[in-house]
Amino acid sequence: MSARVAVVGGATSGLGAASARVLADSGHDLLLWSRDAGRLAAAAEQLAAPGRTVRTVVADAGDPDAAAVVAEAALDAFGRVDVLVLNAGGPPVARADEVTADGLRAAFQLLAVTPVDLTTRLLPGMRERGFGRVLAVLSSGVREPIDTLAYSNTGRSALVAWLKTLARTVAAEGVTVNGVVPGRIATPRVASLDASAAERQGTDVEDVRRRSEAAIPAGRYGRPEELAALVGFLASDVAGYITGTTTAVDGGALRGLP
Ligand SMILES: NC(=O)c1ccc[n+]([C@@H]2O[C@H](COP(=O)([O-])OP(=O)(O)OC[C@H]3O[C@@H](n4cnc5c(N)ncnc54)[C@H](OP(=O)(O)O)[C@@H]3O)[C@@H](O)[C@H]2O)c1
Repeated sequence: MSARVAVVGGATSGLGAASARVLADSGHDLLLWSRDAGRLAAAAEQLAAPGRTVRTVVADAGDPDAAAVVAEAALDAFGRVDVLVLNAGGPPVARADEVTADGLRAAFQLLAVTPVDLTTRLLPGMRERGFGRVLAVLSSGVREPIDTLAYSNTGRSALVAWLKTLARTVAAEGVTVNGVVPGRIATPRVASLDASAAERQGTDVEDVRRRSEAAIPAGRYGRPEELAALVGFLASDVAGYITGTTTAVDGGALRGLP
């Protein structure tokens, strides 16, 4: 069989980059996408290896055309997609009482409409071939809403509801649909959230991180590769009976029963 093909969003940094690395190492060809051509070229170069094809496409998940652009690029390059990692940047910080209608529309495009649209475009081939893996990078806010991330809590919860519904719809066709739930994984996004918390609280970023880590039973932030390991496992053949789940990678931070 030829190599499986994985499409990875937000693949130039943090969780997306680590997921792309794991999928490359487990034999996938890759289409990487995000907003910056230069960063994409650098990411593709890092993943290049003999016998592996890595392509890139520029798209902004906040743009209504993004899903069409990415799906077309993937099918043009490879003619198939087996693994779809739904991931891009997060929405702006906002408390619930700061949410606006325009802001909510933008967050829904970024967090729900584009991922649903992209999945819908790539799903028919997965169903026909009897194999597919849809994996969404979510946030702990879908389990325990985060006060300062109202857009994220709201938009991602809609996506989780759709993914859970989809999982049941395609379960008999070899396509699994799962979410991974990062707690606090050390990436540029988390560094910028910590910086904005420090500014809001009138303290420094090290102080924010120290307090944040103290609230995590494992006593530290996670590493991107610790989340990517789960992505790699869920994308594999042996995970074929796991679907409709969301699994936290959070050092024990979430308090609720799963
Ligand atoms: N790290 C965590 O602990 C954590 C926790 C909860 C949720 N999350 C969520 O997980 C996702 C990945 O986070 P991360 O920590 O890996 O962030 P990151 O290190 O900042 O990486 C974000 C990636 O997404 C790309 N991106 C940003 N905005 C985009 C857009 N509108 N369209 C397409 N690509 C876009 C970025 O590249 P360009 O900027 O060049 O486009 C980059 O490749 C985010 O949605 C984040 O909110 C992360």
